Amino acid sequence: MAHSFDVIIIGAGAAGLMCAIEAGKRGRKVWLIDHSAKIAEKIRISGGGRCNFTNLHTQPQSYLSQNPHFCKSALRRYTPQDFIALVCRHGIAFHEKKLGQLFCNDSAKQIIAMLLAEAHEAGVKLETSVQVRAIEAVAGGYWLKTNQGKQTCASLVIATGGLSIPKIGATHFGYEVAKQFGLRVIQPRAALVPLIFDGALLARCQALSGLSVEADVRFGKQIFAEGLLFTHRGLSGPSILQISSYWEEGEPIVINLAPSTDVLAFLKVQKQHQPRLHINNVLAEILPRRLAQSICDERNDSGPLANLSDVRLAALASAVNDWHIKPVSTEGYRTAEVTRGGVDTRELSSQTMEASKQSGLFFIGEVVDVTGHLGGFNFQWAWSSGYVAGQYV
Ligand code: FDA
Repeated sequence: MAHSFDVIIIGAGAAGLMCAIEAGKRGRKVWLIDHSAKIAEKIRISGGGRCNFTNLHTQPQSYLSQNPHFCKSALRRYTPQDFIALVCRHGIAFHEKKLGQLFCNDSAKQIIAMLLAEAHEAGVKLETSVQVRAIEAVAGGYWLKTNQGKQTCASLVIATGGLSIPKIGATHFGYEVAKQFGLRVIQPRAALVPLIFDGALLARCQALSGLSVEADVRFGKQIFAEGLLFTHRGLSGPSILQISSYWEEGEPIVINLAPSTDVLAFLKVQKQHQPRLHINNVLAEILPRRLAQSICDERNDSGPLANLSDVRLAALASAVNDWHIKPVSTEGYRTAEVTRGGVDTRELSSQTMEASKQSGLFFIGEVVDVTGHLGGFNFQWAWSSGYVAGQYV
């Protein structure tokens, strides 16, 4: 059967654009469509407008998935260095901010312009405001009914991303297509998202809103050592966003607010040498004063060190080095950077991203159950998975 296109890619975000470029370069006739009027909106708003487009330390351990091995092949075949080479070819200036995170010096829009130039060069036909109303498998491919008419293709690629930030075009579409073709979907959940609290804990967070510290945040065996920020709804900052991807509802997280200090040992030494010092002032030597005061108030600890028993000091030290708190929930998709879960990787080939039991149907990017840590890893997954699918569609 003669198809109108070799490849139709639904979703012109990071993964869809990369796949379209690679397929186009192979001489495939590609139609890249998006339901939004503007494409690649998440690239535009990413990294505070400067797009943290990859991470030099990308490794499989930087990703969550029910199958942690799935991402290995794609990440090996299209690496951060490959994307950096592309960025350099387009003369885009960038810098490492911290921890291997690469950002544009000027604007995320440069990454979008680069991808559009590459897509144009590869002969990709790109259209926006295209609504897909129905998809059916037909002999040797797929049939799509859209608001722009009916089209057929040999390969259909779903690159519609996750559910975060619905106001810029996130939809359930990809998961619905997977279900239509009998593919399992791991329950999607907001990830890289602030945590919210209630009651007395919320009141404390509100009182400390705007204050940040370097902290170790732990859930089970997973630990992140980065900034923590008190907010008017609870806790945020990189360490909290990272742990939110692992956190399970109803369970506590554990925070060390002074990771470089053994607080009990410190307090005991201070008590021995300067027993008249007041506890809030002593604690303020290792924590921001407002936070030190809040911890003392919470525990009703005040006055000179000499008046506080070692048992009391031990409990106070625990409140700093080993603070157990139970979040009520997350802020949800409204502020989440990514969606955890998605199309079950056991349904897909890690070499090609094609569905094992549905020939010609591919899933790439965030719609797949592969979720990166904070720091450029999610875009790297989009580039890598888009690249490999682009070699086979
Ligand atoms: P993406 O979401 O990019 O693209 C999906 C496309 O599909 C969209 O254009 C959408 O309009 C379209 N679509 C959806 N439903 C459709 C339908 N029914 N029909 C047609 N089209 C449809 N990551 C990182 O590595 N570094 C960073 O700096 C940041 N920063 C960042 C900031 C913010 C605020 C957010 C929300 C997210 C990030 N991320 C990030 C995450 C990163 O943006 C994300 O993981 C990738 O964009 C995922 O790429 P995809 O191509 O899979 O989806």
